[in-house]
Amino acid sequence: MIPKKLTKMKLPYFFQQFLGFLAVIIILMTVTIFSLVHFGRRTALNATENRLFSYAESVVNEDLNPAQLDTINRVLTAQEVSFFVFDEEGDIIYPELPLNLRANIVPDQIKQLQSGERISLTTNREDLLGNPRETTLVYLPYFQKNNKEYAGFVTLSAPISHVNQQMEDLKGNLFNAFLISTIVAILLSLVFAHYQVKRVNRLRKAAHKVAEGEYTIQLEHKERDEIDYLTRDFNRMVMALKESQDEVIKQEERGKSFMQDAAHEMRTPLTTINGLLEGLEHDVIPETQKLRSIKLMRKETRRLIRLVNENMDYENIRSNRIVLTKHAIPLSEIVDEISEQMKEIIKESSNELIVHDLDNVTVYADYDRLKQILVNLIKNAMQFTQSGEIDISSRNTIEGTEITISDTGIGVTETQLENIWERYYKADASRTKTRFGESGLGLAIVQQLVELHGAEITVKSEIGKGTTFKMMFPKKPKN
Ligand SMILES: Nc1ncnc2c1ncn2[C@@H]1O[C@H](COP(=O)(O)OP(=O)(O)OP(=O)(O)O)[C@@H](O)[C@H]1O
Ligand SMILES: [Mg+2]
Repeated sequence: MIPKKLTKMKLPYFFQQFLGFLAVIIILMTVTIFSLVHFGRRTALNATENRLFSYAESVVNEDLNPAQLDTINRVLTAQEVSFFVFDEEGDIIYPELPLNLRANIVPDQIKQLQSGERISLTTNREDLLGNPRETTLVYLPYFQKNNKEYAGFVTLSAPISHVNQQMEDLKGNLFNAFLISTIVAILLSLVFAHYQVKRVNRLRKAAHKVAEGEYTIQLEHKERDEIDYLTRDFNRMVMALKESQDEVIKQEERGKSFMQDAAHEMRTPLTTINGLLEGLEHDVIPETQKLRSIKLMRKETRRLIRLVNENMDYENIRSNRIVLTKHAIPLSEIVDEISEQMKEIIKESSNELIVHDLDNVTVYADYDRLKQILVNLIKNAMQFTQSGEIDISSRNTIEGTEITISDTGIGVTETQLENIWERYYKADASRTKTRFGESGLGLAIVQQLVELHGAEITVKSEIGKGTTFKMMFPKKPKN
């Protein structure tokens, strides 16, 4: 869930991008300035301390007699360095001052000095003489020459105003650099934000068009970043939407034509039955014809039942309501059974059924449904062939089992070939109502069943020469 606060946020994407980019630059620059100034100041202070310690060391290495100290004092004063010598009690012994100045130092620090340690500190209030300015102080102990006993310490101090001055200069320079980079950053972030927002807006407009039903939009993109990937997925989504919309339209049309076709198919037998019943009602059918009429009515009724059953079968297969029980079936067994069942039809049809060697062929399929497929194809071949041949052959391949049923019949044209799988399609409408009871459902059912088996069916046909149906049933999957 998106927090309420965020959903209410009205900051346009452009400014989000812009501010984000700018914030990064400003934070980066501020951190850089602070760390540079801090580091610079620390380095300068260390240098001052080191300088003072080296002076202090040269002082304690001397004999500390007043004449020499005066000379040192003069030299150091010229460099703005104050210089004091204290005895072991912390009382000043050089220079001679009117008042007895004591070192501003705590007992702990005295102890440190006694043990030979050196001390440095920075006070920002006053120097040793009480002048209010920032100062660096160093304390260095000195020892008796003969017995190396602690004898006192020297203190050197120097104002660090020059360091502060340097830091101010550095800050000034950095601030200028900061200003220039902020201006450049603003310009850059404007360009970037504008570029990104333009890309997002392009997608937004396209999405808007899709929402209004335009499913042909495809946006150009390079596989560079997330927006490109989003564009690619958007294109895919539009394509999928288009496909499903086409499918919906197709289904609607199919539904419409199904109703029309079903009504049309049923009207003929119903009209025949109705006509005969009327004749019987008004006793206009001669006694000798009555039995024939009843037989005709029964035939038409059977046709209606078959139509309804096949339609239901088709719908059940289509909506996956049937379950296949697949086994490895010896094809010769099933073909023998069909030949036996169709013996009469074959005999009457003047055609010859040639079954090629099927001995080692097995098909991984549902027995009844495979039989239904083969019966439909063989019946069609019989139906559309006059004094010709119907060939059944098969072979096992690497992919599975290939079954071929070909005839030397009337064949169909290329345009007819595109439609033969449609429900109620009959290439030649005048040939309806043959003794096989055509309704144009056979191949539609075959196609659904083949698909359900995960198999494929293809057809080749030539007018006047014949038709060949080829199926490829996949092998039993290895577990
Ligand atoms: N072997 C074939 N030779 C020539 N035309 C064929 C062949 N098989 C099918 N057709 C054409 O395809 C049409 C559709 O076939 P399909 O089996 O679906 O319907 P049908 O045979 O007309 O009716 P049904 O099978 O429902 O009794 C046929 O009407 C016919 O025009
Ligand atoms: Mg048929």
